[in-house]
Amino acid sequence: MSTTPVKVAVTGAAGQIGYSLLFRIASGSLFGPDTPVELRLLEITPALKSLEGVVMELDDCAFPTLAGVEIGDDPEKVFDGVNHALLVGARPRGPGMERGDLLEANGGIFAPQGAALNKVAADDVHVTITGNPANTNALIAMNNAPDIPNEQFSALTRLDHNRAISQLSSKLDVPVTDITKMTIWGNHSATQYPDLFHAEVGGKNAAEAVGDQDWLENTFIPTVAKRGAAIIEARGASSAASAASATVDHARDWALGTPEGNWVSMSVCSDGSYGVPEGLISSFPVTVKDGRWEIVQGLQIDDFSRGRIDATVAELAEERDAVTKLGLISG
Ligand code: NAD
Ligand code: LMR
Repeated sequence: MSTTPVKVAVTGAAGQIGYSLLFRIASGSLFGPDTPVELRLLEITPALKSLEGVVMELDDCAFPTLAGVEIGDDPEKVFDGVNHALLVGARPRGPGMERGDLLEANGGIFAPQGAALNKVAADDVHVTITGNPANTNALIAMNNAPDIPNEQFSALTRLDHNRAISQLSSKLDVPVTDITKMTIWGNHSATQYPDLFHAEVGGKNAAEAVGDQDWLENTFIPTVAKRGAAIIEARGASSAASAASATVDHARDWALGTPEGNWVSMSVCSDGSYGVPEGLISSFPVTVKDGRWEIVQGLQIDDFSRGRIDATVAELAEERDAVTKLGLISG
């Protein structure tokens, strides 16, 4: 086992996602069995007691890869020297709400956290925002951290990506491992565009394998895009274990790389690729090598896909304008 632990910050650590995520990270799911991790857990003051209980449980697991745990309510202390920051802490939506309805309530969390990361995180920090509305919260954090390169911020659309793979696998009755090159474009919201035209099943085009545009348009896309709401409706609370699992998948692939011949969906700062305005945090197909992502280039976008991408990107631009008006980013 290597001796220097990777320092991983998790915010909202006493919450629902935290209760699954911390144990996955501590047990080695993120960096493997040979890399020790030190957890830095941030909560608001009233939740620290409950977090102490979670830490007692972490201790009781006696995980060989867990090198230490620190908790606190001061982002500048908790984020000191962190290599990965998983920003989960934010209010979840309830029934009948859209994630964008959380902008005002949650946006304010991410400006001070971005500023704290800017001040004290390790130079190589990788920041992943899970708390909703994830893309725009990432935009806020990034804009409040001028010394951290924009490429070191991302938002989670991996849960949508995994949901899309799962739906397609059920439709075609194939193992999830047969499905590659899935893409979620745009926002982690009901406007997102899960794209089957570039996905593959056993190396063949997924849209052709489905051969049913009506299913693709009227079942697949809305099922994936509205899955979060369906879970809230059924469970009475938003997805937690699957969100934690997707956060681990996202951070692991960002740290360790994507497999040859495949890509994943990550929301990252647009460089203008595929007509997405520069600076928006939008979901793209990406490959990762040596801790750096690259947007997959050269995909042919037909009129159907163009319309869907434009619609979800327009929503991201509206959210950016709304948080600019709230003073959370400079215009
Ligand atoms: P939760 O309410 O169970 O936990 C949130 C925790 O965050 C609470 O313990 C709260 O005290 C803490 N918190 C609030 N403000 C904080 C701050 N300023 N600093 C640190 N901690 C703070 O919610 P949850 O189910 O764990 O969900 C967390 C967020 O993740 C929600 O916004 C939810 O909508 C979002 N989410 C995103 C995805 C995704 O795919 N991107 C998936 C599921 C949930
Ligand atoms: C999800 O996709 O499950 C989360 O973003 C929670 C939500 O509000 O839908």
